[in-house]
Amino acid sequence: MEPDRPSPYASDPIISFRAVKKAFGPKVIYEDCTLDIYPGETITIIGGSGTGKSVTLKMLIGLLKADEGSISAFGTEVTTLGESGLLPIRKRVAMLFQGAALFDSLTVAQNIKYPLREHHWGDEKRLDERVAEVLDMVGLPGSQKLKPSELSGGMRKRVGLARAIAVEPDVILYDEPTTGLDPINVRRINGLILSLQKRLGVTSIVVTHDMDACFTFTDRIALLHNRRFSFVGTKDEAHHCDNRYLQEFIAGGRGTLDEDVE
Ligand SMILES: Nc1ncnc2c1ncn2[C@@H]1O[C@H](COP(=O)(O)OP(=O)(O)O)[C@@H](O)[C@H]1O
Ligand SMILES: [Mg+2]
Repeated sequence: MEPDRPSPYASDPIISFRAVKKAFGPKVIYEDCTLDIYPGETITIIGGSGTGKSVTLKMLIGLLKADEGSISAFGTEVTTLGESGLLPIRKRVAMLFQGAALFDSLTVAQNIKYPLREHHWGDEKRLDERVAEVLDMVGLPGSQKLKPSELSGGMRKRVGLARAIAVEPDVILYDEPTTGLDPINVRRINGLILSLQKRLGVTSIVVTHDMDACFTFTDRIALLHNRRFSFVGTKDEAHHCDNRYLQEFIAGGRGTLDEDVE
């Protein structure tokens, strides 16, 4: 951890998953999902494809319901909230979806205004100002009137990020933010994650297969394996841990490993 950032672990967790179970029909995703997230930290969730990384993020903001167990955010139990109760949680926890998930029929500006309106950000002038601010932050000034179809994959991801940060969230969830991007955009997006962490002090939960990036910006790593988080610890602890699957993963397994490795 860098010396200029206070240790987040002195505080209580702002997000806690406790003994969460989740299955889709006969397919069990989680037997016991237990994980604490601390204010200001960046934690990276790694694990093979289809193990439930996206499901974790979606359960946190109530897009998917846990079958059993508890998920709390900022002291509020999320699992029992309805749509209106989830709204304040989704203002504080923004998600950059895999594939950016922009509305194709709307312009860049309209896409970014969408959550701002949902959270009653202010009048049209204030919305325009905020759109300009966040487009500047992601290095896309002046792109308000473009449609998603006119943007490259990397630009779409950056607009998605602009939309996620527009409401000034406390926590940002990044679901495979660099998958499918060319090396220049990979560096750009990873640089943005790092600068948002430093400038805004946000708490970040990142799902990625990019281990180099992970070791650049993460404070802790959580490995999802065998329907639970089988390792949670700092980068240093990850390097020195004897979890064989974790070591193979760090070495570059990238989710192509046999899921049965213990
Ligand atoms: N809404 C859903 N309905 C049924 N199955 C789902 C749903 N969402 C995810 N799954 C299944 O849950 C498993 C974990 O999905 P996901 O979290 O997206 O994996 P990943 O770790 O690659 O992000 C996958 O097998 C996926 O098919
Ligand atoms: Mg996923």
